[in-house]
This record gives sequence, C-alpha cells and structure tokens, in this order.
Amino acid sequence: MSSPKLPIEALLAEERLFEPTAALREQANMKDAGVYAKAQQDREGFWAEAARSLDWFKPWEKVLEWNPPTAQWFIGGKINVSYNCLDRHVKTWRRNKAALIWEGEPGEERVLTYADLYREVNKFANVMKKLGIRKGDRVTIYMPMVPELPIALLACARIGAPHSVVFGGFSAESLRDRINDAQSKLVITADGSYRRGQIVPLKRNVDAAIKECPCVENVILLKRLGDAAFIHVQEGRDHWWHRLMADAQAYCEPEAMDAEDPLFILYTSGTTAKPKGILHTTAGYLVGASLTHRWVFDIKEEDVYWCTADIGWVTGHSYIVYGPLANGTTGLMYEGSPDWPEKDRWWQMVAKYGVNILYTAPTAIRAFMKWGEKYPDQHDLSSLRLLGSVGEPINPEAWMWYHDVIGKGKCPIVDTWWQTETGSILISPLPGLTAMKPGSATFPLPGIDADVVDETGQSVPLGGGGYLVLKSPWPSMARTIYGDPERYVQTYWNRFGKEVYFAGDGCKRDSQGYFWLLGRVDDVMNVSGHRISTMEVESALVDHHEVAEAAVIGRKDEIKGEAIAAFVTLKEGALSDVEKVSELKKHVSEKIGSIARPDAIFFTAELPKTRSGKIMRRLLRDIAEGRALGDTTTLADATVVAKLKSQYEES
Ligand code: WT7
Repeated sequence: MSSPKLPIEALLAEERLFEPTAALREQANMKDAGVYAKAQQDREGFWAEAARSLDWFKPWEKVLEWNPPTAQWFIGGKINVSYNCLDRHVKTWRRNKAALIWEGEPGEERVLTYADLYREVNKFANVMKKLGIRKGDRVTIYMPMVPELPIALLACARIGAPHSVVFGGFSAESLRDRINDAQSKLVITADGSYRRGQIVPLKRNVDAAIKECPCVENVILLKRLGDAAFIHVQEGRDHWWHRLMADAQAYCEPEAMDAEDPLFILYTSGTTAKPKGILHTTAGYLVGASLTHRWVFDIKEEDVYWCTADIGWVTGHSYIVYGPLANGTTGLMYEGSPDWPEKDRWWQMVAKYGVNILYTAPTAIRAFMKWGEKYPDQHDLSSLRLLGSVGEPINPEAWMWYHDVIGKGKCPIVDTWWQTETGSILISPLPGLTAMKPGSATFPLPGIDADVVDETGQSVPLGGGGYLVLKSPWPSMARTIYGDPERYVQTYWNRFGKEVYFAGDGCKRDSQGYFWLLGRVDDVMNVSGHRISTMEVESALVDHHEVAEAAVIGRKDEIKGEAIAAFVTLKEGALSDVEKVSELKKHVSEKIGSIARPDAIFFTAELPKTRSGKIMRRLLRDIAEGRALGDTTTLADATVVAKLKSQYEES
C-alpha cells in the first residue's frame, strides 16, 4: 500500500461530532435508523423496494442473479430511463416545473421545464433515428455544459443507443481512441465552448479525431459560438443540430429496454495507459442513482439543487442528469469556471437562484479557502441547507471551512465516496440519521456491504486499515469493461477472489466504525478529483521524440490534492532546458488533454529502479514531497536516487 495521503492517526482521533438537529431529523426523507439492519437482513428485498419507485413497462421476475463476478439485476424487467426521467413527470403537475435552470459562462439564462425537456428529447431522439441510429448503436458525445448535453443523453436512453460522453477537456487523440474503442457511428458535438473567456475548439478536435475513426458516419453539430467559431462543416457528414430539429417529429416511442441492456459507457483511467470503458446497464443504474439522490441529498420537491460537476464525468451522469431528473428535481446547471469573470461567480449564482443543495469537490473548496471569505461573504447564502463533497478525501480543515463559511454552521455535509464503476454513492452519511465527523465519509449506505481487508482478504478489526472492498453486489455496479471483459475481472474481481469487489482505495475504520478513505493504492493519481493514470502520462511523455524514459507520480498539492510530477530521461544529445519543460508539458496536453498536464518536470540521467527493472515510484514521491528516502535496499543502484534527490533539492 502506498503511503497514506492524510495524517491518519490525527484523523482517527477526531472528536468533533456533528449530530443531525431535531429539525433535520424530523423532515428527513430517510429517518428510520432501522433501515441499515433491515437492508442487511434482506438485501434483495431492500433493492426490490427501491426499484418499485420507478415506472416499469414490465415488472422483473427475479431481483438478482449472482454468478460471481457477474451480476444481473431485475431480470426480465422492461423499462426506459428517459421515460422515468420525463414522461412520468409530464403526466403530472410537474409538467411545468423547472427541470433545468441553466446559466452560460457569458451569462445567458435558460429555464427548461419538464415539458420543454420532454419535447426536445423526443425530437432529438427522432433526429438520431433518422440518421440511422438504432438500439444498441453507440453514440459519442463531446459537448460543452449546455442543456443540449443532457438532452442528447436522454435521447440516447430513449432509443436505447448507449452513449459515451467524452469530457470536453480531452484532446483530439483521447477522443479518437474513445470513439474507436466504442465503435461509435455518430458523434454529437458543438462548434466550440467557453472556458474562462477563451474558446475551446471542440469541432476542430472532432475533425482531427475522426480522420482516424472509420466507424463514424455522421456528426451532429450544435451552434454554441456561432460566427466566432471558424469551423469547417463537411457536407454530407456534418449536420447542424438546429436544422435537423426544425423538421423532427414531436413524439418518439421510448424503447422498452431490458433491465440489463447497456445504458452508457464512460471511460476512466486505470493502471495501464489504456482507459477503460466502464459499462453501465439500465435498471440497476437508475435504481441506484435515483435512490441515493433522494436519500443522501434529502431532496425535496421545492428544492433547487446544484451539482457543479461536468457531465463528462460520472458525477454529472448520476447527479446532474439521471438521479435528479428521475426524482423530478429542479437542477441548476452552469457552463463555466468558478472564478470567471470573478471568484464570487458561484456564490452569486447560489444567491440569484436560491440554491438549497450544493454538491461539489474538495479541490474547489480548497481553492475558495485560498481566495478568502470575502467572495462568499459578498452574497446571501442563506438558502443553502445541505452541502455535499465528492471526488477525493476532504481534509478536515476544508470540511470545517465549508461547514462554517459556506453552510454558516447550519448545513449538514455529505461526504460521498463512490467511483465511475460503482455508478452511484456507496459510502456517505444520511443527513437525518448520521452524526458526521469532519473528513470521514462515515458509513456504507443501506444495502451496501463494504469492508476493510488486509493483504490476504481478512477483514481488519475496527481501528485498523487496509483495502476497501465490497462483499455483495449492488444494482448500479458496472457490468463490464466494454470490449474487454477479461480486464474487468482482472482489475476488480481477482485481488480477493471473484466474489469480492476491489475498489483500489485504501481505508481505515476508527473504533466507532467510521470509514476514513485514504486515496488510491494503485498507480492512479487523483488530480482535482479527476482520475489520471501515471502510465497514461508516462506513455504520452515517451511518445515525444526526445524522451527516452519517464516516471510519473502524484505529489501532494494544497489545492489539487495531487499534482502531476514527471521525472524524465532525455535521449542522447537532447537539451534539458526550460523550453524543453514547456514543450513536454504541451505535448502531454495535446496527447491526453489539459487535465493531464504535468505541474513539474525534472530531468534526470537515470531513474531509480529495482534489480528487476521496476521504477520505484515510492522513492520518487519521497523526493518530490521532500521526505527522507524510504527503504532503498531493493534498488539496483542506490547512487541514482541519492543523486536525483540532491539534484531535485538544488533545482
Ligand atoms: C475515486 C473514483 C465518483 C465520484 C467522482 C470520482 C476517489 C471519490 C471520494 C470521497 C475519498 C473519494 C477514490 C475513488 N474518491 N470520492 N468522498 N472520499 N475518495 O470518480 O473518477 O471514478 O474516481 O475517487 O479514490 O476510487 P472516479
């Protein structure tokens, strides 16, 4: 296990306990503390009960078929996700309730009611059908945070075409690889998007990507920037969104999907250079996303709920699109950055729209902490009643700041642990039931069978630490890695046998059983809540013609959690100067995307390796974080690392 990223002994001694107030308990969606035990006694019955809150075309015959590691949920059931997010609401008074309140980075505002969203989704579903998209065909979506993005997702769900959303910050090459891996026939994009006042050339990236994507037949192009975009439209292949929509039919029959039919693929980084296409299916995913959204955020009919994630990540899939809309929630959606044009943009929006629930990431909270209280203090934040955190462990200082400065001491904080693979939140407080400790995600939710085990898979008693595992299946779990079922089994169901899901996170439990997540135990970094593989960045670096070898690590960073540091050996004759540093950083941005751009690059004649040739990243981390070197006895040549350390300290 890699070194814990938090001072864990201090955390375990945490004595601050934030009990739910009587008023909070009284009104909570889930106030029956017996729910945990009940769910444990009859897990399948618990999930069946949850599934009954959705609308089914045909009920399931069997709740769970578990042939480890293959799980099938709600077997025989027929259901449609877009029907559950739209049709069933427009049949009620919610028809004219706001589904999405959207604000663009330059300041435009749009409100889409459930009826508006229903109309647009139906039409867009027909648009895709007309372009030949059928049930089972994959569609890649590479778009800005505009209402047409959730519209595209829901339209895919309506016709049963699994979507693969690629975050707009990824490069043309990353996009190309994801399109080819999914073999998408259709790409949906925009002429561009805004990012801190700059233009992001989405369409240009699509053009570059699909030069090498023979599977792509059509591109649908949303006009976001208009004349400013300077784009090329290829006759016959590229179609303007608004033109297609102008003559689209108003109603599209929702496809009756099998509970286990695929809903989407979402790529995430693993321990190799190749991202994994995590596949989620229909019914189980929606059961997990909607139930957790209702319970964890304690969502009420009249709430204005804001999840600040990008829909390009799983948080946006589950907690901007599917969970909230299935629950008939009013959600706020914002296109831009928190510090544009000023560092008070979010707080201005909270006040303007009367946001009640805010769900964001520790990295954002730490950035706001650094900018100072004056920005939130300029605005009336009294509408807030519940705060959420996701993406990485939240350090107690950030938790307290969030609690006091943003929540004014009156809002519970739900620290939610989950992953792309888990589909929905698995470890989190329930606001009406759980006493919170700053920095702990507290307990597994009802129906979730989490444990902490040692190297041999033995459960570690309370007070100890080890690997986080899940010992029973849950409905929203990933079903496979698209196109690579073997890797799915190897990665998640092999470490502790095929019945136990290995999450890849280290975890400790205190004497009261609170879970304290410690970060990844594999070669995966967590940079500003984004998962980035060290291998992926290394292979982008060695792809540069002057790089001989590279080793990448995540080093502690005050704002980002981890920042990328690279140790690079250049080829004979190449110059190791400042220009080379910026050239290599740019190279990585172009290969993967700006989220993977290294913060620091160090040149070295040699990398510390074991006798069998394995790079010792642990020692590089010691160097980069300024610690005394750990055990070096397995090194082939101990002078390499000593030299590197003194070189690093001089630089
Ligand atoms: C990894 C999953 C699904 C949320 C967005 C990230 C880390 C996530 C927490 C938390 C401690 C957390 C874990 C996990 N993580 N939430 N509340 N406390 N760590 O999704 O990109 O699939 O990354 O994020 O390390 O394995 P992801």
